[in-house]
Amino acid sequence: MKKQQISSYAAWKPSKPISRGAQAYHQAVTYASWHIDNMAEMIRLVERRVRTDDIVVDFGAGTGSSTIYIIRDIPRKFFLFLVDNSPSWLGNAYSIFHTNPNVRCLLLEKNQDQYQTLDELMGRNSVNHVLSANTVHLIPNIADAFEGIYRALKEGGTFTFQSGNISRQGREKGVLMIDDSVERIHDIAISIIRRDNRYKHYQKDLNKRMQVMREQRKFVFPDPRPLNYYVEILKKIGFRNIRISHKKIKVSYKDWLSFLRVGRLQAGILPEIGGIKLTAKEEHDRDEIITKASHLLFDELKKHNALANHKSFTTEWVYVQSQK
Ligand SMILES: C[S@@+](CC[C@H](N)C(=O)[O-])C[C@H]1O[C@@H](n2cnc3c(N)ncnc32)[C@H](O)[C@@H]1O
Repeated sequence: MKKQQISSYAAWKPSKPISRGAQAYHQAVTYASWHIDNMAEMIRLVERRVRTDDIVVDFGAGTGSSTIYIIRDIPRKFFLFLVDNSPSWLGNAYSIFHTNPNVRCLLLEKNQDQYQTLDELMGRNSVNHVLSANTVHLIPNIADAFEGIYRALKEGGTFTFQSGNISRQGREKGVLMIDDSVERIHDIAISIIRRDNRYKHYQKDLNKRMQVMREQRKFVFPDPRPLNYYVEILKKIGFRNIRISHKKIKVSYKDWLSFLRVGRLQAGILPEIGGIKLTAKEEHDRDEIITKASHLLFDELKKHNALANHKSFTTEWVYVQSQK
């Protein structure tokens, strides 16, 4: 693709100011050592395959936290499309990259109850490489998304994704997934609400609210699906040369607390307080309870988890590479 052709894609521009939630996520994640280590591993896996002038997609680019490393650490000139279904998150990425002539933001629009697929957005046989960081575990109908990616790829093109929320047999005892920490913090937070009378106000109908809010929790932090689930879908679609690897990544308690204190994520950790639209008091209390629960979890890990120490605990990211 020549440079003129990159402009043939209708460039997306945000129509609203950048959301506070997107900015908070970006700040908590982008320079955290777990994210840097994870992106370094992903780029180590794909870097050699990207050639000059290739079309590369960062699928689920979000606020641009993954994009920063893709641009910085793949040492060739290529065209990068940032694709996401959230205008508020993509707006943050736009604010960072819109002056880069080799980068375009593209929004997946919703048609009825389905998001567009990548080929609908970019055309068939048009992309050399699709990279997707920390995203696939959030997509309910992953088969449709993978099929769209397959159709968008050129013959021989590659699709590489990673996630810290994919379960797999053989994971070492003591290694956590993102979801493990979030589930445990939710449980500890609920027990704090039940026994601490400062939060008496939230005790009423708590069981009922836990039931009602479960869907909201699982929307933000879905239950992890097994690795095989993803691999079988890739195979069925026709992807070949599927290669799987995993890497243990240390997460410092300090960085993890910053992540857990992002308001948009707290709406998925403890939606029993305030739901999505909450008062300033509820926002304060929810943050206070999640912070207390996080410290209690960190104490548990320090005492009982062989792979945790006084500064950090251990997680695992799974990397899947495949080819059309
Ligand atoms: C956890 S963020 C990851 C952002 C970035 N890649 C990173 O590594 O920090 C997940 C992103 O996936 C996006 N996302 C969720 N569902 C999606 C879908 N069906 N299609 C495309 N993107 C989706 C979200 O809007 C969000 O920006």
